[in-house]
Amino acid sequence: MANFFKPTKKTSTSNKHFAVDIERYDYQGAGIGFNNKKLVFVEGALVGEKVLVQPTETKSKFIRAKLIKVQQKSDARREPFCPHFDKCGGCSLQHMPYQTQLEVKQQAFKKLMSKLAPSVELSSIIQGDERGYRRRSRISLRWNPKSQQLEFGFRQGKSNQIVSIDQCPVMSPNLQGLLAPARATLSSLSQPRNLGHLELVDADNTQVVLLRTTEELKVADKEAMLEFAKAHQVSLYLHQGKTEPEIVHGDAPVCSETGSELSFLPTDFIQVNRSVNQQMVSEAISWLDVQASERVLDLFSGIGNFTFPIGKLSSKVIGIEGVQEMVDRASHNATKLGVENAEFYQANLADLNGNEEWSKQGFDKILLDPARAGAQGIVEQLGQFNASKIVYVSCNPSTLARDSESLLEQGYKISKMRVLDMFPQTGHLESMVLFEK
Ligand SMILES: C[S@@+](CC[C@H](N)C(=O)[O-])C[C@H]1O[C@@H](n2cnc3c(N)ncnc32)[C@H](O)[C@@H]1O
Repeated sequence: MANFFKPTKKTSTSNKHFAVDIERYDYQGAGIGFNNKKLVFVEGALVGEKVLVQPTETKSKFIRAKLIKVQQKSDARREPFCPHFDKCGGCSLQHMPYQTQLEVKQQAFKKLMSKLAPSVELSSIIQGDERGYRRRSRISLRWNPKSQQLEFGFRQGKSNQIVSIDQCPVMSPNLQGLLAPARATLSSLSQPRNLGHLELVDADNTQVVLLRTTEELKVADKEAMLEFAKAHQVSLYLHQGKTEPEIVHGDAPVCSETGSELSFLPTDFIQVNRSVNQQMVSEAISWLDVQASERVLDLFSGIGNFTFPIGKLSSKVIGIEGVQEMVDRASHNATKLGVENAEFYQANLADLNGNEEWSKQGFDKILLDPARAGAQGIVEQLGQFNASKIVYVSCNPSTLARDSESLLEQGYKISKMRVLDMFPQTGHLESMVLFEK
């Protein structure tokens, strides 16, 4: 075919406001209406509302627009419970009743999976508390030379802006109580330019504060942080310059909601919502129907959140994780707990060469819980293990749908599906799916 000139598609933005009637929701709970037959996505708008919007992105098939004014309000609209709702952007659904949020997530997931599993009933959503559920949080810190004040808050969307916060009602009450004193202590330090961020973790045995700095703290500043840790009875980690995080006060954190006491570092991945995690792990194990004689593979295993409970029921469980430090932590937990049938290996699951020792044997059951990018790379190879059941836990419905197609092509069928409301008040959609041979 001859080459000919094709103009590149234009992404234009016109500032002109227009009104739109909201007819349905997208999978993240943004309102959808139409303007001259073009889809218009409006975050913060509810079905049944007429809203005045300003386009922020105009493509050939859709427009993204910012809500300027609600001209006709839905009776369902509720007042967001967080005073930072408008600026922060972390919780985009607080204006929507919680029950509607759950229904939106269920409907979106049903629609997404309708072609892959047309006759599979979606079970009820797994949920916990709609507030106070976050057991970990990262606070950004930056010295503002103009105002001569420390900025303390959340990074706004994709921008470089820090939204100042003094409360966060979706954070666990234990962590919320630390915000004001932490801000006061950090603002008093002698070298505020060196402050990077704060990691807060509400562990089962302690609350953890990790301070990340670009340079080693001066002695007096270290003292001030220690005083803060003692006064508020928190464990304090300092992560200074290029060194490893170092505990300088209190106990190392543990989490134990899945039945084994797992030690972790505040920099390790742990599931943010304790109650939903507990229910999710228990459901995954029940779906796998693990038998005492079976070998199980746990892919993207982190510090062993699924691996240890699976190990209690199986003859052998192998956890594979990309981050060596978490593999070490999981192995350390196995030794500490006297668990002999769990082994952990480091591997990049997106790029296996087929020579890995652990991949040469079969598995009766497989669990995988990848990050947002999904499991491309390993998912195409899962068929070779000949597992009768595979549970896929997903934090990104698009990559789940893509990877599901590969499993269906390898002879599996979907037999169970469930949505998890791991992050209430946000558009995040987590789910779990059971595949059977
Ligand atoms: C959603 S977390 C789940 C961790 C664990 N299953 C849990 O429940 O706590 C995903 C994990 O996959 C790991 N990971 C991401 N990409 C990976 C890759 N290409 N290879 C191996 N592990 C990877 C991350 O380090 C992270 O620990």
